[in-house]
Amino acid sequence: MAEDIRALIFDLDGVITDTVELHYRSWIQLAGEVGLPIPADFRDMLRGVSRRESLKRLLNGHTVDEETAQEWMRRKNMYYLAFIAFLTPEAILPGIMAILDDADRRGIKKAVASSSMNAKFVLRKLGLFDRMDAISDTSMIPRAKPEPDLFMWAAGRLGVLPSESVVFEDASDGVQAARAGGFWVVGLGDLALEKAHVRYPDLSGISLDEILKAVAALQ
Ligand code: BG6
Ligand code: MG
Repeated sequence: MAEDIRALIFDLDGVITDTVELHYRSWIQLAGEVGLPIPADFRDMLRGVSRRESLKRLLNGHTVDEETAQEWMRRKNMYYLAFIAFLTPEAILPGIMAILDDADRRGIKKAVASSSMNAKFVLRKLGLFDRMDAISDTSMIPRAKPEPDLFMWAAGRLGVLPSESVVFEDASDGVQAARAGGFWVVGLGDLALEKAHVRYPDLSGISLDEILKAVAALQ
């Protein structure tokens, strides 16, 4: 039953805000400086994958020594920090605020589970840090998505079971992670999210009531 849902757990990049583009632009800037060609579909390749894995995908089979890898990841993050310094609540994607407000009215808890080490900073810039009951990032858990650790940590912190929680994800690794943990999953966007329980192009005009009913219909 929909009444059994006690928590919403959001991925951050590409779900709450469109930082996907900012990660992409930061890598493009680095790639230009160090003379790396940009793989086809590179923007979508970055969705939901760690900083290290993003570099690996940019290198596209080439290798660099660890010192160079660290320096390039550090430099990419500096560019990313410069971009996110300008984020404001206006960058919150359509539909999110209404869902958060409705969750509050219903007494449903809210959390963010993000692969980004910058998640807390981004949430502060968006004005959402204090609205979340829990925030997990990769500094807190041993295994990144597609393992379920980020979502399990958040659920544990909220005191809810995975089966009582709905996860919102835009990346296939994230959908896989949430499914592996036994969560209900709403997939957003047009990537390979066929494993999500419910799918929408985005959350614009989608009410929490509609989502809870769609989940309840699967139970
Ligand atoms: C994910 C993004 O949320 O975080 C990825 O979708 C990004 O694109 C990853 O690589 C890691 O982010 P950060 O900020 O720690 O480099
Ligand atoms: Mg994402």
